Amino acid sequence: MKLLVTGGAGYVGSVCAAHLLEAGHEVVVLDDLSTGHRDAVPSDATFVEAELGAGAGEVLAAGGFDGVLHFAARSLVGESVTEPEKYWSGNVLASFRLLEAIREHAVPRLVFSSTAATYGEPDRVPIPESAPTLPTNPYGASKLAIDHMITSYATAHGVAATSLRYFNVAGAHVAGDVHLGERHAVETHLIPLVLQVAAGTRESISIFGDDWPTPDGTCVRDYIHVDDLADAHLLALQHATAGRHDVYNLGSGHGFSVLEVVEACRAVTGHPIPAVLTPRRAGDPAVLVAASDRAAEQLGWKPSRTELQRIVADAWEFARGR
Ligand SMILES: NC(=O)c1ccc[n+]([C@@H]2O[C@H](COP(=O)([O-])OP(=O)(O)OC[C@H]3O[C@@H](n4cnc5c(N)ncnc54)[C@H](O)[C@@H]3O)[C@@H](O)[C@H]2O)c1
Repeated sequence: MKLLVTGGAGYVGSVCAAHLLEAGHEVVVLDDLSTGHRDAVPSDATFVEAELGAGAGEVLAAGGFDGVLHFAARSLVGESVTEPEKYWSGNVLASFRLLEAIREHAVPRLVFSSTAATYGEPDRVPIPESAPTLPTNPYGASKLAIDHMITSYATAHGVAATSLRYFNVAGAHVAGDVHLGERHAVETHLIPLVLQVAAGTRESISIFGDDWPTPDGTCVRDYIHVDDLADAHLLALQHATAGRHDVYNLGSGHGFSVLEVVEACRAVTGHPIPAVLTPRRAGDPAVLVAASDRAAEQLGWKPSRTELQRIVADAWEFARGR
């Protein structure tokens, strides 16, 4: 298939682009490099440096596209609270323009990077797709708004659409010379932050509270290997049905605590990784774990790189090469 990958210079988009190319697809990456890196775009992909809202129409006007995989977004929760305008414009408005271009140029398929943040604070875990969507910040709200737009475009204009709600994406794509992983200038994700301590670029890791109602008192999250996530995108492309918008949670179904992650990083790197206990952060749910049964049943997706040590080892392999 000929595919447009928005945000393909970023972490998840670049790994998915590599998997798509490996599977024989033709890939055009559109990215404004606001948080991505030119050298993360796989060399076999065509690269267009442009902002999504302004550039997608021009790219799709070339014709012949079988689908769009839409990763491009702003995704800093804290920034979305202090500067919500960036999220309504950069995520919602830009995605609306993309949807309009998809409609105008009759692109049949769309796979969208949605998020666990659309659910907000869950009243039960694991979280199924039927859980209430009550985002607690503008980032989650912007993603949910895009999900709603996509539903209406699928219904009205026959797009075969899939939203994949990622939980905590982690690990790296390490295949021969190709190493693709997390390289955010503003890093908020736990594993790369802990590995920065091992790499000597951060003094210690902060643990936000050890009095949560969890087995060791620290927050529990569902870490999904980025290669497993990429597999789900390929399956979503195959299973998409015209006029339908399917939503799937993507997680391993198993949670690891902050302390377990720090321990795994110590084991993998051999570094003592000092940890500093600080007060709880407002708005952090204690436990976020996905129920991904729907993706298993309908897409035949089964994550296979679920061991925490494996996820950390791949992330470390990537981080060490930087
Ligand atoms: N990483 C996670 O754990 C996680 C979890 C849930 C959802 N997501 C979603 O997955 C997607 C990818 O996340 P990531 O971690 O790879 O982020 P990332 O910041 O590494 O990648 C995003 C890419 O999109 C580009 N981009 C952003 N806004 C753009 C715009 N308006 N026009 C053109 N390019 C633009 C950036 O330059 C970057 O290359 C995002 O939509 C994010 O919300 C990620």
